[in-house]
Amino acid sequence: MLFFVDTALLSEIQEAASLGILDGVTTNPSLMAKAGVKDFDAHYRAIAQLTSGPVSAEVISTTYADMIAEARHLHSLAPNIVVKIPFTPDGVKALHTLKEENIPTNCTLIFSPLQALIAAKAGATYVSPFIGRLDDVGHEGMELIRQIRQIFDNYGFETKILAASIRHPLHVLQAALEGADIATMPFSVLKQLFQHPLTDKGLAQFLADYEKLHGRS
Ligand code: E4P
Repeated sequence: MLFFVDTALLSEIQEAASLGILDGVTTNPSLMAKAGVKDFDAHYRAIAQLTSGPVSAEVISTTYADMIAEARHLHSLAPNIVVKIPFTPDGVKALHTLKEENIPTNCTLIFSPLQALIAAKAGATYVSPFIGRLDDVGHEGMELIRQIRQIFDNYGFETKILAASIRHPLHVLQAALEGADIATMPFSVLKQLFQHPLTDKGLAQFLADYEKLHGRS
């Protein structure tokens, strides 16, 4: 499973990359706003230099023609930029055109398996089912991952399942068990994946036992 970090903060991306297990980055307009970004182009270029993996940059346009123009521009900023397109009829049409132009896409705001099927038929490189936001409204987000996995396997779609809107480590575990190709998570969740009290306790014991024999180094 690939790990992406879901943030626009350069410090977090840099720290995540230094761990050696970062495969890519996803952003959205809300994350860019939260990071206080004014110059989006410069910021996407900066992010794209911090990782060799894909960096999702979302279009602001809502019509087909404007989405295509914006997607071409975003992808021209850096070769690893993937254009995030919202799931709308114009968006789906844009996915199809961008596939023909070899511009990688991430179809976002996926809340149903049929939306994912349509995005895959249109040639999306990635689909982003939003697990946490479904859980928030009383639907089991993980069921969506399960159904998309089954549909893509039934028909041999190569579109990658990018589990998004992840809120805690259990989401990452369940997405991995359900066969999501990628999990994109806040940096706080990535850090949580490293934590286990028994690891800390075990290490403290090993060091204490060493010190009993050799003293503090
Ligand atoms: C990722 O691509 C999505 O934009 C993101 O995971 C949404 O997460 P949220 O529901 O926590 O805003």
